[in-house]
Amino acid sequence: MKVLVIGSGAREHAIIASLLGDDSVSEVVCAPGNAGIAQQVTVRTVDVTDPEAVASLAAEVYADLVVIGPEVPLVAGAADAVRSRGIACFGPSGAAAQLEGSKAFAKQVMAEAEVPTAMAHVCTTTDEVATALDQFGAPYVVKDDGLAAGKGVVVTSDRHEALEHAFACLSRPDAKVVVEEYLDGPEVSLFAITDGTTVVPLQPAQDFKRAGDGDSGPNTGGMGAYAPLPWSPRDLVADVTERVLQPMVDAMRRRGTPFAGLLYAGLALTSRGVRVVEFNARFGDPETQVVLANLRTPLGQLLLAAATEKLDTFPRLVWDPGFAVTVVVAAEGYPASPRTGDVISGLEAAAEQAGVDVFHAGTSVMDDGNIASAGGRVLSVTAHGESLAQARERAYAAVDLIRLEGSHHRRDIAERAANEAMGE
Ligand code: AMP
Ligand code: GLY
Repeated sequence: MKVLVIGSGAREHAIIASLLGDDSVSEVVCAPGNAGIAQQVTVRTVDVTDPEAVASLAAEVYADLVVIGPEVPLVAGAADAVRSRGIACFGPSGAAAQLEGSKAFAKQVMAEAEVPTAMAHVCTTTDEVATALDQFGAPYVVKDDGLAAGKGVVVTSDRHEALEHAFACLSRPDAKVVVEEYLDGPEVSLFAITDGTTVVPLQPAQDFKRAGDGDSGPNTGGMGAYAPLPWSPRDLVADVTERVLQPMVDAMRRRGTPFAGLLYAGLALTSRGVRVVEFNARFGDPETQVVLANLRTPLGQLLLAAATEKLDTFPRLVWDPGFAVTVVVAAEGYPASPRTGDVISGLEAAAEQAGVDVFHAGTSVMDDGNIASAGGRVLSVTAHGESLAQARERAYAAVDLIRLEGSHHRRDIAERAANEAMGE
């Protein structure tokens, strides 16, 4: 089959690498892609915010399956437009993608499905926000209702800062903010592939959202990840599937807006049990890079089964018994104001390391053929190993071979989990 992948990040690069390893996939085309993706498959330009442009491209390249990576095209209805041309698509409808597109909508469906989450108030005025903040107390959690590329959430003990964020969000017309109770405990990302009825959970992963070591600095799109989690409760996946993922998929189907695609549950393992922090309607970035590094089931066949409502008869997933770690190399100034246009060297040497894949995110090809930085998160250096410690060593050895002036990355991705796993 021929697969069209929409997107341009390291997530899409990892998806493409897995698709290329599936014998049933004869060709992959990506739009718009990046410099690393262009080294492996044909890339095309497309306006990802325009559903008809995505659907036209799918028809033009004779795609048998379209895989939509980012949330923006999904929320805009790209999957609906592709399917209306009779082409199979992995990704939820615009209506179903509202689970990510509106935090208030997600809370409403969670309430219907009796899925455990933080108590929350949806507010439209700063007076309502102030009342809600005082009801829950510090630390305060204030979220922009709509898509905000990871920048919509403020968690702070400073009441003034919480109110300022709410005020900024509410200054836009028809805006809503969600104020919610603070959830303690480690965060886990659990993805499920679903066709709208059957739910197939993947491996749990952990994402490192803050820019600096020890979870210091500002929130980012994600600075690294590892999977699976040696410390997580043995029954976590079964428990979350039964209490969170399946009830959400059932509720969405009952509403007449079935969710088919990837349902991403962002979870907090609190002292009072598992709680949902958020849902996303797509593969997470950078967690996908590590989860797919461990998946041995052919990805194209799995995504096609989800896109054609055939997951109920799909064979059990096969996982490598090892671990994967990914380290994001970010441009100088990321996340506030990333610098672009710097040459990157050492990419080939890094990719030649055992067990290592260098996935590109913000990269482009310069006129002289060199590869340059073109975005905030530039690379996602991913390594597989028999142990978490080996995967870490391999990932950092590869990162250390890469040169990008002013770049920064965290040195502590998976460090604590690897040490604990070795009994330290
Ligand atoms: P979200 O966009 O909802 O995933 O929020 C981004 C990040 O903010 C999450 O990954 C958490 O680290 C943090 N966060 C969100 N909601 C809460 C909460 N209720 N309690 C504590 N931290 C939260
Ligand atoms: N890793 C967080 C996200 O994809 O939203």
